[in-house]
Amino acid sequence: MPRKFDADRLVIASHNRGKVREIADLLAPFGIALTSAADLGLGEPEENGATFRDNARIKAVAAAEFTRLPALADDSGLAVAALDGAPGVRSARWAGPERDFGAAMDRVEQALSGRTDRSASFICALALCWPGAADGTNAKVHCEIFEGRVDGHLVWPPRGGHGFGYDPMFVPGGHDVTFGEMEPAQKHAISHRADALRQLVDACFGKE
Ligand code: IMP
Repeated sequence: MPRKFDADRLVIASHNRGKVREIADLLAPFGIALTSAADLGLGEPEENGATFRDNARIKAVAAAEFTRLPALADDSGLAVAALDGAPGVRSARWAGPERDFGAAMDRVEQALSGRTDRSASFICALALCWPGAADGTNAKVHCEIFEGRVDGHLVWPPRGGHGFGYDPMFVPGGHDVTFGEMEPAQKHAISHRADALRQLVDACFGKE
């Protein structure tokens, strides 16, 4: 049984303002007081996991242990089929220390040159971690982890000024506009983050 969330405060363990804004929008109906890791001055742990799930867990555990509050972390990225899933867990790093996503999108486009398969997915792992064990053992944290995705394809040149990261080059399946061209509410209805959050809400915010 997944652990139920019954606190009234939650730390969003992210320094990425785009993600914090999207998670806050998606959680707005639950009336929980949200604080971001950046607001609390928390450092960023090294994301050395091999998977989105591992990295989400690393971030949420660090924030839950430090604040002694439940913490929610997102690890997400773009997985391009013809690039064997790259940039994947390295999506943020492809933008370099300057977080230059224009350059990161260029790099994806360069890597794809000459390929006909332009299919790609956004993947999002969400880890909700509590300080202390749920089962009376002396474990330091308890985590529930969920993974969501949205499949689509990449276009060039990038289009639209909404969203963040690789949004301007990603067209979700069944649509002909990029995430960058969509209003936030339209993206939220179908995004990888919304998919993961729906699973988390069903499991951890639903009735027993
Ligand atoms: P991390 O999860 O903080 O390691 O960074 C994930 C990176 O993946 C972000 O910096 C973005 O570049 C990219 N990414 C994740 N979710 C989205 C999204 O919804 N739109 C566009 N880019 C995203």
